[in-house]
This record gives sequence, C-alpha cells and structure tokens, in this order.
Amino acid sequence: MLGDPDQLLGSLGDPPDPDLLEPHAQELAPLFSRAFRILHRTLEGYTAGTALALLLDLGWEARLREGTSLDALCAGQPAQARFPLGWMLPFLAQEGLLAQREGRFFLEDPHPVDLQGLRALAAAEAPGQEASFDLLDGVRSHIPPFFTEGRPGEELLFDLALFPLWLAYFRNDNLVYRPNNLFALLALRDGLAQGSRILELGAGVGSFARLLAPTAREQGWLDRITEYRFTDVAPAFLRKAQRDLAADTPGLPLAFQSLDLNRPLDAQGILPASLDAIVGINVVHVARNLEATLRDLRSRLKPGGRLVLGECLKPSLDRPIYLEFLFSFMSTFTSVELDPRWRPVHGFLTPEVWADALRHAGFQNLRWVPEIRPLMDHCPAFNAGALSAEA
Ligand SMILES: C[S@@+](CC[C@H](N)C(=O)[O-])C[C@H]1O[C@@H](n2cnc3c(N)ncnc32)[C@H](O)[C@@H]1O
Repeated sequence: MLGDPDQLLGSLGDPPDPDLLEPHAQELAPLFSRAFRILHRTLEGYTAGTALALLLDLGWEARLREGTSLDALCAGQPAQARFPLGWMLPFLAQEGLLAQREGRFFLEDPHPVDLQGLRALAAAEAPGQEASFDLLDGVRSHIPPFFTEGRPGEELLFDLALFPLWLAYFRNDNLVYRPNNLFALLALRDGLAQGSRILELGAGVGSFARLLAPTAREQGWLDRITEYRFTDVAPAFLRKAQRDLAADTPGLPLAFQSLDLNRPLDAQGILPASLDAIVGINVVHVARNLEATLRDLRSRLKPGGRLVLGECLKPSLDRPIYLEFLFSFMSTFTSVELDPRWRPVHGFLTPEVWADALRHAGFQNLRWVPEIRPLMDHCPAFNAGALSAEA
C-alpha cells in the first residue's frame, strides 16, 4: 500500500548518473541526496493521504465506498470544485488509494494511509524538513469552505494562519524547493554579460534573490548585475521583501516594483528592449493568456536578452503530480485561457509544451538546465527544471 513507509523506501530509486546533470554535475549532484529522494516519495504519499482525508472530512466516505464518478461528486458543489476534484480522483487512483472502474472511483482499503508514519519517516530521514507537510496539513484544515461555501481558494489559503507556512515552503533550505531556484540560477549565470539589467517576475518574498546574491558574490559575478528589478503582484509579498531582502542580499542592486504579468508591461513602466534578462520562478504558468504574456516579455528584452523560467514540470499532461494539490484550489492557477497548440491544459506543463509555447512566441536558442527529459525519464517523480530562451 502506498502509505506504508517501508514500501516507500523500497521504491526510492538511485540518484541520477552525473552524466544526466552535465555540464553542471558538480553543483547539481548534491541536490539528489537520500534525504531529498525520501522527501519526494514521502510527500507524494502524504499528499495522496491528505487528499483522501480531505474527501473523508467532507463527509464523502459512503459515496466513495459505493463508488462515484467525478460528475456525481461535483453535483451540488460550487463550480470551482471541479478543478481540485478532477485532479484528486485520478491522482488517488494513480497512487493506488482509489480503485477506478468504468469512470467510477471506489474506496476499498479500510485504513488507507498512515499519515503519522510518513511524517515520522521523513522527520527521521530528513530532519528539519517539515515545511511541506505543515503546508499540506494547513490546506486540509483550511480548505473545506471552498466546497461547503464556495469561498475562493486564495482567500482561504493565504490567510494569516497559513501565510507563514508558505514563507517556510518557498525557501532554499527546503530541500524540495531549492532545485527550482538553483536550476534557474545556473541558467541565468551562463552567458550573463557585464552591466546586465534583470527583472524578476512573481518574486514572492525573494527566495531566488537570496540564493543569487551570495552565490554570485562568492563566484565573483555579482558585479555583472547593474540593476535587479524585484517584482510581484501581491502587495503583502512585495512589502515583506522591501523590508527584509536588502539585508540578506548585500551587493545586489535592488529596485522594487509591483508588476502583474497579466497586464501590458508597457503600461507598467517596463520599456521595450530595456532588459538583459527576465527571470520567473514558478510564476509564468499563471499567465492568463500565455501567448500574449510571452510575446510581451520577449518585447521587453534587448536583442539576445534571455527569458529564464524555473517551472514545475509534468512528465506527461495526463499524469497528475503531487504538487498540483496545493494549487488546484487557486483560480489564478486554474482559470487560464487554453489553446490546444500552446496551452492545452491549465497549471504545470511538460518540457515539450513549454518549448513549443516559447518558440511560437518568437524565442530561440532554447536550453534546459539540466537537460530535462532524460532526467525526468530517470526519476519520474522529479518535477522541476529551468529553461533559458533568447529573445
Ligand atoms: C509559487 S510563488 C513563487 C514565488 C517566488 N518566485 C519563489 O520562488 O520563491 C508564485 C508567485 O507569483 C506571484 N504571482 C501570481 N500571479 C501573478 C501575476 N499575475 N503577476 C505577477 N506575479 C504573480 C505570486 O504573488 C507569488 O509570489
């Protein structure tokens, strides 16, 4: 059974061969520690267990035991419920917690997941890495009014009680989040010219800048950056970054600005062909019209300037990944314009869909850090990469 800690450890897999991480093997290999791999596996199981526990918290055990389709479960629910439920049922089937027969989902196991056991295993093998587990618990306890009262996920999940849990999650000492920032940092560093003007989109409270500044200083390339424009749409994140960031990033020439990637950049004071690099870590997938946003971003780059995207990635569009649980309650994640060619689904995409969307928007010389498809084929649970593309 998936929730069984012993079985999880048995399927841990080997760290990737260094060849898969070239030319950055030395800097990337330490990411794939045993603690990291255990966290990935336990979080996958913990997310499945939490999603199932949430369905039971909502009083749906009898319906699941008798078997239900997605449509039947959504009947009488607010329309927004279809997004998370449409993700949860197939994910729970994929993880072996629900049986799936003829479009219906059945709960057959009497005691599906040992959540405490998984937490204890992670605490023993990867001490100090509670952030993701705490966040999953917080989502489970705060989200029921999304279903029962139709309240927006953003309002429930970014309230004062959960805000510190998000801050703890988006940190470089969170072993499962650090790769997002490190990959993007290596992609940005390669080819960064003296005098570079960089803009970061959706910078949150600054986990990327907090990795960038000390690393670039230590490696002797911080002075290549002439301006680092730190932006986000959320006033609370921006205010916190303005308060704390400079102390942790000495030497990084910071400028702060509110910026919404769903609004024309010209109207927000970002001049055409004015930037050497634009960086966005786990943000551009929320673009309401991905094509329009990518074209607008490209127009702000100087010739040869680069867009560097750090993104959670799916091995295939129809395979749910555990990280989608957290975001499937947020309309910014789910309510985007779809296009069968460039944006076939909402949320996280495959490496190939990203590449197609960027090429279609006029970007060229695309490069993944690390070379992502062989790495994902080796570690199917692995789900992050950075893509650098020239304007
Ligand atoms: C998943 S968080 C990542 C934060 C940060 N990049 C990090 O890695 O620590 C996504 C960020 O995108 C921001 N965001 C969401 N919608 C946005 C929009 N329309 N324009 C700009 N930023 C947005 C959020 O406020 C949040 O800070």
